[in-house]
Amino acid sequence: MRVEELNAAQMSTDDIEQWCDVLNAMTDSDMPGEPQWNSHRLRDYLSQTLPGSQRKLLVAYEDRGHFLGHSVITRLSDDPVGIVEIATRPEVRGQGIGKLLLRHTADSAEAMGCDTVCAEVIATTPAVGFYDRLGFEIAELEHRHLLRWDNIDWEFMETAAKRVAADYELRYFPGSVPASYADSYADVKAHLHSPEAPIVWLPEWRPSAEANQLATAFDTLRKRGMRPHIMVAINERTDEVVGLTEVVVSNQRPTRADQYDTVVASGHRSYGLAMTMKAALLLELRQREPQLHDVQTWTSPDAQDVNWVNAQLGFVHDVNWYDYEIPLHTLKKSLNDGT
Ligand SMILES: CC(C)(COP(=O)(O)OP(=O)(O)OC[C@H]1O[C@@H](n2cnc3c(N)ncnc32)[C@H](O)[C@@H]1OP(=O)(O)O)[C@@H](O)C(=O)NCCC(=O)NCCS
Repeated sequence: MRVEELNAAQMSTDDIEQWCDVLNAMTDSDMPGEPQWNSHRLRDYLSQTLPGSQRKLLVAYEDRGHFLGHSVITRLSDDPVGIVEIATRPEVRGQGIGKLLLRHTADSAEAMGCDTVCAEVIATTPAVGFYDRLGFEIAELEHRHLLRWDNIDWEFMETAAKRVAADYELRYFPGSVPASYADSYADVKAHLHSPEAPIVWLPEWRPSAEANQLATAFDTLRKRGMRPHIMVAINERTDEVVGLTEVVVSNQRPTRADQYDTVVASGHRSYGLAMTMKAALLLELRQREPQLHDVQTWTSPDAQDVNWVNAQLGFVHDVNWYDYEIPLHTLKKSLNDGT
């Protein structure tokens, strides 16, 4: 068995197809019914990172033309946490390939200066047994909710989208937020740290409270082949953003939209802005992304406000996700003990 580091920018077309094939074999086996990946702009998805971030790709194979598994580790610029994604083909599981990839990935994490490694795991999949076995612990539980396009009550959405409280106005922005709103948008993002905010942590995104990093963050999404759609609530008296909701659609899985952050600044809550913004954004998506089948979102079970709004809109909880975590030195010890 060989493990090789790949440079995403230099991967051959065959490498890209193989990479995609492993993702789809994993999806078919572990999450049947979830959308398939396609290789369109997969290279961009793998190679582009936020400035200052690091990412390493590894593949495992016996025959170079047939990848048996792969792993990705991403370290965001000022955070010593390595986000790990490992997948092996279902027919070769239980043969030590996942562990071999994790061993090389842990070495990469060390070289990148990480002190902790984490992985997002769907609670119903075999990955749970794997990460448990290697000593990872659950740091966070999130509920994944799905809103299926076929189940959307568009009349309800139209009514909800029109219920804008007095003194507020909704504005839709595709791709990014105009510079004139960057400061207030970033200020609202800072409210994400409040206890009732939804927990959303994705490798390609981080809640930035820095206005000057916002444009870069949106730009990175676009470079990765992902299309951000943003709805904001503006306070007409101050012409400032006081609420926002973001949905991202990827070229690599274009029928599935990801709901990113939704947050309303504390002085502007209880006016129904979250519901209005989300409904209005869904109406935009109906026009602009007609290929969509569903929207997924992740929330903490404790985020009662957000969960209530999502339920009203038709989101249904279908599966739990775990954020697994382990200190790097504990992982290295566990990998060595097991040999
Ligand atoms: C997790 C995954 C990478 C494991 O790959 P694998 O090649 O089967 O793992 P290994 O054979 O190297 O197993 C390593 C150890 O974990 C144990 N293990 C693996 N899967 C296990 C399971 N489902 N239950 C219990 N133990 C498990 C093995 O027995 C082995 O233990 P050992 O060291 O005592 O021999 C594979 O199941 C996978 O690709 N899952 C999908 C990945 C995924 O969920 N991605 C995220 C989706 S969002």
